Amino acid sequence: MTLTFDLKTYLDRYRQQVEAALDAYLPLGYPPKIYEAMRYSLLAGGKRLRPILVLASCELCGGNPDWAMPTAVAVEMIHTMSLIHDDLPAMDNDDYRRGKPTNHKVFGEDIAILAGDGLLAYAFQVIADRTPLEVPRERVVRVIALVARSVSAEGLVGGQVVDLEMEGNPHATEAMLDYIHKHKTAALLEAAVVGGAIVAGANEEQIEGLRQYSQNIGLAFQIIDDILDITSTPEELGKSVGKDEKAQKLTYPKLWGIATSQQKAKALVQEAKQLLAAFGDRATPLQALADYIVERTN
Ligand code: FPP
Ligand code: MG
Repeated sequence: MTLTFDLKTYLDRYRQQVEAALDAYLPLGYPPKIYEAMRYSLLAGGKRLRPILVLASCELCGGNPDWAMPTAVAVEMIHTMSLIHDDLPAMDNDDYRRGKPTNHKVFGEDIAILAGDGLLAYAFQVIADRTPLEVPRERVVRVIALVARSVSAEGLVGGQVVDLEMEGNPHATEAMLDYIHKHKTAALLEAAVVGGAIVAGANEEQIEGLRQYSQNIGLAFQIIDDILDITSTPEELGKSVGKDEKAQKLTYPKLWGIATSQQKAKALVQEAKQLLAAFGDRATPLQALADYIVERTN
């Protein structure tokens, strides 16, 4: 498997399935304005890394990836809503996301807030209503609790609060930075990877290995994000760049320099890959995904 595995083909196949599911799960409805606003951001493309991690993790643990599609869609809905709210004038006040004007620029702030709220609520409805009955309901409840925790003040919301406090804060510390990234980025990646494993019926040892894997790739992902904010272009990223410097935010490249940051991200990914060794060759897709996180250019 190691020799023949092609990550691009793997990602393209799952990405197409995810795109089709996102479109099908959220058709237009009444009132049209809110459905248009939700679909505008949800169907704006993107790497779809989180839903692909859900499906890959379910497959790794011996489950049918179709069982995990509702969880995959839900995680992407939550990621999208967090970006809609993150871009609002009250937060990062950004005009571009995924190469298009941000949600509030097109639909107004009121509708953008509601589109985020609508996506957040719908995400949980999707897991509860659409997970196939082959998956025992205890697993479904456990996934709902896991995803909810990853969004809560113990997760994304807490991370974003400390992130806002860090702006222009000359007393920001490395510990605060770690907290932000563990909560704002790694928490949802963990919900994705562990959620897929729970749907598949993974044992506790497998879940723990995958949890540690996701923490490592979450941190690596964020280090690369911080580097790209310095080194990349708006065309490549589909959003504005140089924002951390402008907002006077402490970042890993600011703390350690770009080269050391890159080395640290690589070391985290190496460790993540080793954490999956017990799965043997079946771990190849998730290991390749970990490499992709540090090699990506957008
Ligand atoms: C992007 O970070 C923002 C996030 C990853 C999450 C932000 C979280 C919230 C707004 C909380 C949302 C509310 C709920 C209920 C989940 P960034 O600004 O560093 O990156 P960017 O350059 O992509 O904007
Ligand atoms: Mg932002």
